[in-house]
Parts: sequence; structure tokens; C-alpha cells
Amino acid sequence: MKTITLDAGYLKNTITEEELSALNDPVQKAHYELHNETGKGSDFVGWVNQPRDFDREELQKVQKVAKKIRENTDIFVVAGIGGSYLGAKAGIEMLTPFFYNDSKKIRGDFPRVYFAGHHLSGEYLEALLTVLDEGEVSLNIISKSGTTTEPAVAFRILKQYMENRYGKKEAAKRIVATTDREKGALKELAHKEGYETFIVPDDIGGRYSVLSPVGMLPMAVAGIDVEEIMKGAKDAYSQLLEPDLKKNPCYAYSAYRNILYNKGKKIEILGNFDPRLTFFGEWFKQLFGESEGKEGKGIFPATLNFTTDLHSMGQYIQEGERSLFETVLKVGEEEGQLSIEKDHKNLDGLNYLAGKTFGEINEKALQGTLQAHHEGGVPSMILTLPKIDAYYFGYLVYFFMKACGISGYLLGVNPFDQPGVEAYKKNMFRLLGKK
Ligand code: PA5
Repeated sequence: MKTITLDAGYLKNTITEEELSALNDPVQKAHYELHNETGKGSDFVGWVNQPRDFDREELQKVQKVAKKIRENTDIFVVAGIGGSYLGAKAGIEMLTPFFYNDSKKIRGDFPRVYFAGHHLSGEYLEALLTVLDEGEVSLNIISKSGTTTEPAVAFRILKQYMENRYGKKEAAKRIVATTDREKGALKELAHKEGYETFIVPDDIGGRYSVLSPVGMLPMAVAGIDVEEIMKGAKDAYSQLLEPDLKKNPCYAYSAYRNILYNKGKKIEILGNFDPRLTFFGEWFKQLFGESEGKEGKGIFPATLNFTTDLHSMGQYIQEGERSLFETVLKVGEEEGQLSIEKDHKNLDGLNYLAGKTFGEINEKALQGTLQAHHEGGVPSMILTLPKIDAYYFGYLVYFFMKACGISGYLLGVNPFDQPGVEAYKKNMFRLLGKK
């Protein structure tokens, strides 16, 4: 069976076998801390066994509610921020066809999906309300704490819109709340208004919650096969159980990152050559940034979308400060068959590409880029996923969550809290006169 593979061939000049072997014990320690729930933040490691132990009835409920939403909805709005937004957005961008929202021909009977509550732009919300008039609307408000300002204020506006348009009773039938089991303003409000609700598990923090209803409901509404996602995650769970980093690509990846960090490579670029992976990069950034960036430590996670960003950031990568390393997400199989035809006049000089598909050209761009970055002193790894589909999305999500937990433990931080996020909130609340 095909699986995700890690190629560290380009690290040979940078990392020795001895350096890697020296991390075998620390990685095993991190592995047991994670699995035995004895490490830092162990109240929030519910995601580790989630692919094995998840609540099947709940997944069925997700699918049932998604079907109901699809039947009466043209436009589905998902309001949330951070871990209550990026996983669903990443999955939808990765797994629905290009131009999904723009073309009925492409989308078929599935609703358009828009996001809200992930920033504080009033103009964005005003424009969104105009768009909502174009069809029947349903809404999913997602907030574990139920008190986060950005989604809460967006929801106040959207709820008002729904009630004005549909009346209170019908609006309530079109709103789903995904939140904590007991706590928070959203939980209380959802109960009072009689909304359908889904629970964010107590022991799973926002950025590790994509395999819960937080990510699954929006993806199911967009027609994504959530069973396949869980299948991929479950295979990742079992294949990445091996404590020995030499037999576990996920742990090898964590170890390489750690060694590179200690050699002064403080910035990791997650690069892709497929625009469907753009938002997966955003999800990755939050996962690693919020998990590792604390106590004055942590690799700064960056994402670049190639070849686009080779024309904006390529110069820096090639010749700027040598504090970078790169992980390239490569897709094994490009399914598009569009190719370049021969042109007799050849005025654009492109006949050397005649007969080649875009996939073949893109592959050469990837090889050329990796070689150039290697020569420019940017250590790189290649993570290949056989293809883009729901199964590999689930696999990849789990691969990175586990790599992140192990990386955090290797660094000596708690990868499951985010105390620093409170600082801006405190200032903002004071400036806004919150009592
Ligand atoms: O990963 C996290 O915990 C955070 O990014 C949260 O997901 C984010 O702040 C949103 O929080 P909430 O779901 O409570 O609204």
C-alpha cells in the first residue's frame, strides 16, 4: 500500500548519522510521554488515540447533519478562528475542486462555503451579508471556549441576519454550534436558542481538533468523505506507533527539525508545488507556531507556495540569511492531463515543452528548485504524499500533529498550551473598555 514517505537525502551534508542516532533516546522518551500521557500538557493529548477511539456515532451524526444542511442550503458559513477555522479551511481547499465556490458546474449540488469570524474586518462581513442574499443560508459557529471575540462578534451579526431573514424559529434550525461540552457563552446561547450542537472534546485543543466535528462538519457539508479522512488518520496512527525514529518517518522528521534548529536553522519553510495545499500550510503554521513558540524558543514556521513564491521569496531563499530549512510537500501523482501543444510558428519559444503535461513541467520545477536550494545552503526534506485525497489528508494531518507533539517535547516546551495568545487580548479588552 502506498503511504507518505520522508526523503532526507538532501540533509546528508548537514546532518550525520551520529547526530541522528543521538536523538533516538530523546525521541523514544517523547514517544512514551505522549502515549502514556506523562509529558507536559498531558490533559490535551486526546487527539493521539482519536483515530482509533473516535466516537463513531458522532461521526454518523456529523454526516446526517451535513446531509440535512446540504438539502436546504446554497451558502454555508463557518465562523471560527485559529484551530476552530484553519483545519476545515485547509481540508476544503485541498479536497474540493478548484473554483468550487465560483462555479455551479464544478460544485454540483453542494453549497458554497464561506468563512467568517477569522479577523475583525467589518467590510468583509458587510460584503458577506450581501453574498448571503444570493441563496439559502446555514451557519456553523465554532468556538471551543465560546468566548473568542472574533467569531463571537461575527456570529452576533450573522445571527441577527438569519433571524431577520428567516424568523427566530427557522433561523435556529439553520444554525449549528460546535463548542465545549459545558462551559462558555456559546454553549449557553446554543442551549437557549435550541441549536443543533457538536462537542469539541475536552482533551483536544483547537489546533489539534481537525478530526473532531470542528473540522469534520464543514468538510462533510462540502461533500468531502469524512470516513476516508478517519481511515487515513487511523492508518497514520498505526503506522506511526514505532518508537524508533529510524523506523518512523514522523519521528525522523521531528528529530531532523530539532537538529537543524540546534544548528541555527530557526525558520522552517513548508513549501508546496500544488495550490490546493496553500491552506494546509496555514494550518501547519498555526500547529507548529502555537505549539513550539514559547519560552524564548521554537522554529518559526513559514509556508511558501511554489512556483508562485519563487518569484517573490526565491531570492531570499537562495541568497538571504542562512537560517532557513525547507520541507517540501510533494504530491506523487498529478492527475491533470493538460499538456503543451506544438506551435508551428513557436513565437513564444516554448516548443521545447511540446508534448509535456503541466504535471511533468511542475515536477522538473520541483527538482530544479530543491537542487538550487541545496546548492544555496538550505537543507531540505521531501515529504511525498501519493495523491491528494481525503485519505491522505487524514494521514497528513495526523503525521504533522504527532510530529509537532514530539518536536515540542524534544524542545522542552508544552506543545499543547498557548499562554502567549492572551497578551494581545488583554490589551485589546482594556483599550475597548471591557469590564
Ligand atoms: O489552538 C488553539 O487553541 C487556538 O488557536 C484556538 O483554536 C483559537 O484561539 C480559537 O479558540 P476558540 O475555539 O476557543 O474560539
